[in-house]
Amino acid sequence: MISPGHLGFWARPDEERVAAFAALRRHDRPQWMRFRNRTPFVPTDDGFWAIVRHADVVEASRHPELFGNEPTAASLYDLPPWMARYLGSMINMDGPRHARMRKVVARAFSPRLLADLEAGVRDRAARIVDDVVRDGPGDFIAQVAGRLPVEVVCDLLGIPEQHHALVTRHGNALVGFTDPEYIGVSRDYLLRHGAPGPRHIVPVSARLMRAGQALTTLVGRLGRERLREPRGDLISTLVHANPDGERLTPREVGTLFVLLVLAGSETTRATIAHALRLLTTHPEQRELLLADLDGRTGGAVEEVVRFVSPVIQFRRTATADAELGGRPIRAGEKLLLFYNSANRDAAVFTEPDLFDITRSPNPHLGFGGPGPHFCLGANLARLEATTMLRELFTRLPGIRAVGEPELLLSNFTHGIKRMRFAV
Ligand code: HEM
Repeated sequence: MISPGHLGFWARPDEERVAAFAALRRHDRPQWMRFRNRTPFVPTDDGFWAIVRHADVVEASRHPELFGNEPTAASLYDLPPWMARYLGSMINMDGPRHARMRKVVARAFSPRLLADLEAGVRDRAARIVDDVVRDGPGDFIAQVAGRLPVEVVCDLLGIPEQHHALVTRHGNALVGFTDPEYIGVSRDYLLRHGAPGPRHIVPVSARLMRAGQALTTLVGRLGRERLREPRGDLISTLVHANPDGERLTPREVGTLFVLLVLAGSETTRATIAHALRLLTTHPEQRELLLADLDGRTGGAVEEVVRFVSPVIQFRRTATADAELGGRPIRAGEKLLLFYNSANRDAAVFTEPDLFDITRSPNPHLGFGGPGPHFCLGANLARLEATTMLRELFTRLPGIRAVGEPELLLSNFTHGIKRMRFAV
């Protein structure tokens, strides 16, 4: 079997990948997967532990003191620490540094503030459907699924409309860091070698840094403006001291924004897009949904997140000698928590390969395992996806995906770059 670290693995058909993970889950202990890290900045190593069972992903998430997010959780590839910090914000932090940042930011995602956002999300979704009705259907990602998450994250932070196109462009470049379209490395090379090669690392890193910098500069500038003149947005809240006396510097707000764009946009876009794809290929599920849109959309979104796993995996690094799933793990070794595999584990889900919008309970790990890094935006993502689906299926009940979607080449997110649709 090709290693799931190898990009070629992710270009294989869906059924083949699902079967490969099912075979990995049948081993009685986690398996070591060879994968050469080719980054020239840091010493190379030769693989990672594939954590594929639901129980093992839960266990690793529960023990951040043994399985840490530093130096980087957002990349299988080793990055120099300064770059990981610059691009990853709190997802690449452990312990008190992470707790401080998370506490400051969590206020913005409180149920009360989310309730305030609800009407804005509904308005945005309604305008998106108005535009589809006016312009006619073309590419579902550009016209629908890619729009709402960027608009909502920008509204949340108070980023004016004129910058949305820039945020989308640089967000695509960041999340597409292994896709030929965004990194200027041929698909053929990536499929043969499994990753960008040593000669690509400098230009690829430069592209990533340029995209990250464009976003941090934009938000850093707005942060300095809001320091002088606060408004009712998240940037203002973050740069001014909260009741605990904590606040973020404009630079910290900038790197946080990169994380929010990365974590919040691509994932929610993928959820909305895969939802339309799955409801097209599973007409009986679509009928069920349309029969009770209000009652079933929430469950449908959970099932799409389980079935698709928009985030394929996050990485941990063992901080000390430890054990997981009966396997001794040595300090410094990498582990990849494969959420896609945990979400198909028959030990937890009956008929795991069946797409069933009425599945209950649905203890999927699509938003991460129980631990300090559990997705901060899970409720916002649920709100966005349910609102968008309800708006689409109420006003355009015949909406469907057409042809095969163009998938992002990635071992990290299950993204769709383009998908045609009809109404
Ligand atoms: C369906 C959409 C989404 C999925 C599938 C998803 C998935 C995830 C996953 C798997 C993690 C890592 C959890 C862990 O390591 O235990 C994560 C972390 C995170 N997500 Fe999400 N996410 C989604 C939407 C969002 C949205 C809309 C936002 C905010 C705008 C967001 C913000 C974050 C942040 C800030 C973190 C890092 C939290 C930390 O390190 O403490 N996510 N997400």
